[in-house]
Amino acid sequence: MTMIELIEKKKHGQSLTDEEINFIIKGYTEGLIPDYQVSAWLMAIYFQNMDEEEVFSLTKAMLYSGETVDLTKIKGVKCDKHSTGGVGDKTSLVVAPLASALGVKMAKMSGRGLGHTGGTLDKLEAIPNFKIEKDIEDFYEQVNKIGLAIIGQSKNIAPADKLLYALRDVTGTVDAIALIASSIMSKKLASGADNIVLDVKVGSGAFMKDVDEARKLASLMVKIGNYYHKKTVATLTDMSQPLGCAVGNALEVKEAIETLKGHGPDDFTKLCIELTVEILQVCEITSSYEEAYKLVKSAIDQGLGLEKLRAMIKYQNGNPLVIDDYSLLNIAQNTIDVIYEGQEKLYIKSVDALLIGEAAMKLGAGRVTKDDAIDLGVGIVLNKKVGDIVAPGESLAKIYTNGQNTNLAKEMVYSAYTLTKDVVTKMPIIIETIK
Ligand code: URA
Repeated sequence: MTMIELIEKKKHGQSLTDEEINFIIKGYTEGLIPDYQVSAWLMAIYFQNMDEEEVFSLTKAMLYSGETVDLTKIKGVKCDKHSTGGVGDKTSLVVAPLASALGVKMAKMSGRGLGHTGGTLDKLEAIPNFKIEKDIEDFYEQVNKIGLAIIGQSKNIAPADKLLYALRDVTGTVDAIALIASSIMSKKLASGADNIVLDVKVGSGAFMKDVDEARKLASLMVKIGNYYHKKTVATLTDMSQPLGCAVGNALEVKEAIETLKGHGPDDFTKLCIELTVEILQVCEITSSYEEAYKLVKSAIDQGLGLEKLRAMIKYQNGNPLVIDDYSLLNIAQNTIDVIYEGQEKLYIKSVDALLIGEAAMKLGAGRVTKDDAIDLGVGIVLNKKVGDIVAPGESLAKIYTNGQNTNLAKEMVYSAYTLTKDVVTKMPIIIETIK
């Protein structure tokens, strides 16, 4: 078997066997097949696609290219939750404590943010002294003791995916559904959970801009999960405007804590409840939607999720006092409002999530390359979202800044808003769920 034969085969739309895909992934990881040949193969996949069997094989080859986490040392039913990433997406900070409070073992490995979408680890690091690196045995012990841990993903999880993703990034082959699905699922499967709940974001602030494409991606990831005997569910959720109101690391932690206290923004609270309901169902804590919904609501009302978050912060060396004293989060002290300058009351038609995410990046909240330092204290809080009314002189949003690109960010936030005279109905946060 030679790489040139396999490139030709894919170029002509034929399916590769498990053995052939393994040959490519192993050869590439070991440095035996050069970038230019793998690039050609990736481009052939982009145009010719892969069938499901090929996707399963590619996922497996990447999953076993590095270490796999054995969660059998953790007693109870384990679930992982993954979001494809969006603007203001602090969902894990709420959903993981809530699900854990209701009996699911949440052993979560997360990543950092790149570009306009933030990462859970960056958000957690806004909590003073919070430790995201842990020895795997300590990780197991923590989840066994308190039911919850969120740590950084080990560098040795799916190394083939890391190599391939970097190559895709510079060869225009990121946006192939087969490649995205196998990339995400190889890492999820290597992380060892029994069940997986996926939040596939759709809209300007997300990776997938179009519902049909997002649906294809979600279905394929569910098939991969099920093929590997993991119960997998995917929700398609709206990311045309930022999720909740806060965008920026410390600001998002504050909003997540407020949500666990029952005072979160409507869209974000609804999404967190629905995702936790999915987790409870997929983990068979209860089979009825109504029952799961009641459990989650009462976990919020009784502050059970909040107490889990507090326990996790303590266990991971962070300062748990942040829960009651937000000044400890070091949110930037300088603020400016983005004021609506029009002459008449209007409705908010849209708030471009991508532009808000990019404005937050300009303030320093996000990184352009993976080694950039970020400012955890800066960001944007939206005062108006789609469907709201704004009157002349009112604030559309507040910017929290430490002085970097403040005016530019202000202009970007202003231009992210589109206004109209017509009444605008709020769009649902959950578009559909794929099981
Ligand atoms: N996220 C991933 O982990 N992989 C992709 O290919 C795209 C998004």
